[in-house]
Amino acid sequence: MLRLAIQKSGRLSDDSLNLIRECGISFISSSLKLKTECTNFPLEILFLRDDDIPGYVADGVADIGIVGENVLVEEGKQSLTVEKLGFSKCRLSLAVPKSAEYNSIADLNGKNIATSYPNLLQAYLDEQGVQANIHTISGSVEIAPSIGLAEAICDIVSSGSTLISNGLKEVERVFKSEAALIASEQLSDEKQQILEKLLFRIHAVQRARK
Ligand code: PRP
Ligand code: ZN
Ligand code: MG
Repeated sequence: MLRLAIQKSGRLSDDSLNLIRECGISFISSSLKLKTECTNFPLEILFLRDDDIPGYVADGVADIGIVGENVLVEEGKQSLTVEKLGFSKCRLSLAVPKSAEYNSIADLNGKNIATSYPNLLQAYLDEQGVQANIHTISGSVEIAPSIGLAEAICDIVSSGSTLISNGLKEVERVFKSEAALIASEQLSDEKQQILEKLLFRIHAVQRARK
């Protein structure tokens, strides 16, 4: 039995579950259960917070996982990547209030920026030669400017509707991301074989989607 970790609720959840279903793998899912065994394939699915998935896979608590590259790179765990999956595409962007005057990245010098991605943001600011104060918060980042915590935010943008609802405009793109399949570095031979069967099906699904 192979243990797969996917996001419990969020941008990646539906796309991840759809991929598994399109692979012909059946399971009963309920929003209250955090674990389910597939009925026709030796796979157990764990529903976790996306941020926790790379750590669980690195520790071998889960054997494989589906997670955004944004989380993977932020946590320095890119080496777990098996392959990119081509869905749940998004970007990590800087945004400021709609009414704020913004001409270039230099406008962020000396400003406070709220984010859940301090490492990716710091690397980008360094590269751009900008010095700002990064405030790391774990969620609801988009609210930071309106409560006076920061003048700008750096967060994931997909459709852009979260930014619009919070009166923000996207001003810089920091990082491009999509879903990736990751795997523990110490899989047993048995688990490795199940992973190969799963990958075979994933590739068939990807070919059919094209
Ligand atoms: C991101 C981000 C916003 C949302 C933006 O969250 O934090 O909440 O997606 O999407 P939109 O542009 O389509 O409105 P994510 O799904 O990465 O999960 P998390 O913040 O709950 O970890
Ligand atoms: Zn998250
Ligand atoms: Mg979010």
